[in-house]
Amino acid sequence: MQNDILKILITEEEIKTKVKEMGKQISKDYAQKNLMLISVLKGAVVFLADLMREITIHAEVDFMAVSSYGKSTKTSGIVRIIKDLDINLEGYDVLIVEDILDSGTTLSYLTKVLKTRNPMSLKIATLLNKPERRVQNIQPDYCGFNIPDEFVIGYGLDYAERYRNLPYIGVLKKEVYKK
Ligand code: IMP
Ligand code: MG
Repeated sequence: MQNDILKILITEEEIKTKVKEMGKQISKDYAQKNLMLISVLKGAVVFLADLMREITIHAEVDFMAVSSYGKSTKTSGIVRIIKDLDINLEGYDVLIVEDILDSGTTLSYLTKVLKTRNPMSLKIATLLNKPERRVQNIQPDYCGFNIPDEFVIGYGLDYAERYRNLPYIGVLKKEVYKK
């Protein structure tokens, strides 16, 4: 697996420091609130697992799984819910925890759907942000790193379901995609 990596973009240490910082800020901002962390499977689970342990106030968690139709070509914003939440969002201050905000298709759909369920508030925390790729008008409320328009893997992010277990964010060698 290590042989497939061209370069490391964000090291384990850098991620750790940043996640700590984000956890501290979220704990402060939500101190008087009723925090519900909603994570989007599967990419965001590694970030969620680390982030929630840096949060020092009460927080509940729930999960959703979504898939987008015709991912590469369409920017229609059509996203399908594969696994919905178990809980009712009324009375919760919801924070969506995502691995990466790319075109924004997934998150703009998700925020639309979740808003109809009447949470007290709804915000977005993403580890990575690719502002250059944005199609939808959506910004993260908490963001770990802005990255260039490059396909990245590791720390939950996959290429063909692999590399999620790498502890850092990296870029794959070109030849890996041709296999
Ligand atoms: P969006 O709907 O275009 O914002 O895409 C969001 C989803 O696309 C993320 O949750 C990831 O699953 C996937 N994605 C976008 N960019 C990358 C990347 O560089 N590496 C791995 N997955 C990515
Ligand atoms: Mg994802």
